[in-house]
Amino acid sequence: MFEELPVLPPDSILGLAAECRADPNPEKVDLTIGIYMDESGNCPVFKAVSNAQRQLIEQETTKAYLPPQGYQPFLDGMMSLVVGSEQLSARSGQVSAVQTPGGCGAIRIGAEVLQSAAPGARVWVSDPTWPVHLPLLNSVGLHIETYAYYDPATKGVNFDAMVEGLKAAVAGDIVLLHGCCHNPSGADLTPQQWQVIADMAAKQGFTPMIDIAYQGLGDGLEADAVGVRTLIASVPEVVIAASCSKNLGLYRERTGVALFVSGDARSAEATASQAKSAARRVYSMPPAHGGIIAGMVLNDAALRSEWEAELSSMCQRIQGLRTTFREQLEAATGRDFAFIAKEKGMFSFLGLTREQAQQVRKEHSLYMLDSSRINVASLNAGNIERVVAAVAAVS
Ligand SMILES: Cc1ncc(COP(=O)(O)O)c(C=O)c1O
Repeated sequence: MFEELPVLPPDSILGLAAECRADPNPEKVDLTIGIYMDESGNCPVFKAVSNAQRQLIEQETTKAYLPPQGYQPFLDGMMSLVVGSEQLSARSGQVSAVQTPGGCGAIRIGAEVLQSAAPGARVWVSDPTWPVHLPLLNSVGLHIETYAYYDPATKGVNFDAMVEGLKAAVAGDIVLLHGCCHNPSGADLTPQQWQVIADMAAKQGFTPMIDIAYQGLGDGLEADAVGVRTLIASVPEVVIAASCSKNLGLYRERTGVALFVSGDARSAEATASQAKSAARRVYSMPPAHGGIIAGMVLNDAALRSEWEAELSSMCQRIQGLRTTFREQLEAATGRDFAFIAKEKGMFSFLGLTREQAQQVRKEHSLYMLDSSRINVASLNAGNIERVVAAVAAVS
């Protein structure tokens, strides 16, 4: 059966990270993968998470399955974190939530429910978007379209082109938006621009789907949810896929949530039942460990404030790195890198060509994606000068 089965190439991002691991150069720098790294180049466990985990191990009495929708305190905590208490009370009874294996699981479950509601519907994704969006959405039968988003010339959002492109999105279509910290560009919408998109959704009738995987790593937990909340306030139906991988550091615990905001309580019940049925046919129940820990952190006052302080210091460190990187690149090249300091979250396109990105990898063991997307959080005092020198040498 497998004799003719083709061997697939490695995932474009994970494949480069593997290439970097195999590189013997002790000075190599990996800026490919989208995980938060601290000053010592380690992806840390949040102290609040360690503390919750310790408590959980002492208290845990069973490893029985979670119910298919997941751990209720986690769902409650995530609904108020993402949707916010104001929108939750305005849309009381209209929001359903299902715990998923990470943000990817949430996108997939969201896509499954959308496909059940509107088989073969068009999903508009930004150009560019995170490459994994495509298989997550089209493997269930949704049809991908793109809208203009990032302009390499201005190194920012081409909002006029975005609006022009989205004029073609109609009722029955889905528009995928990055809630904050756009991956791969780091270029986000302003609150005013979110309102324009929300008004278009209300007028044209398309359904927004928001992928929010970096809440708290752009401008802070509340500010990063402005887009989500603006849309919920403006249109009856919104699908949200939220991840706890980055903002709680629960990457390998696979912790996320699919949220469905509907026009009425019956529709909320329908989305919940469809999401649970989709989970049942894909993986049955969500993994428990990360959801329980996140639930504890979100709901316990002491753990919550410890977590918020840690998250905020990560966010500030990224912002500080953006400023330093900008200054050093400008000093080394004489060119304008102001865009790096303006962008949000972990990612940025450096503006190198594919050839330059490959050259910098080959000649300097500096690993970035071919698109020149880098993870700013992988920079630190020990590697930043080397990165700047390598970029200056090839561009
Ligand atoms: C844009 C975006 N969405 C969703 C995710 C989901 O991540 P996970 O499934 O690890 O929670 C990621 C992770 O890198 C991401 O970058």
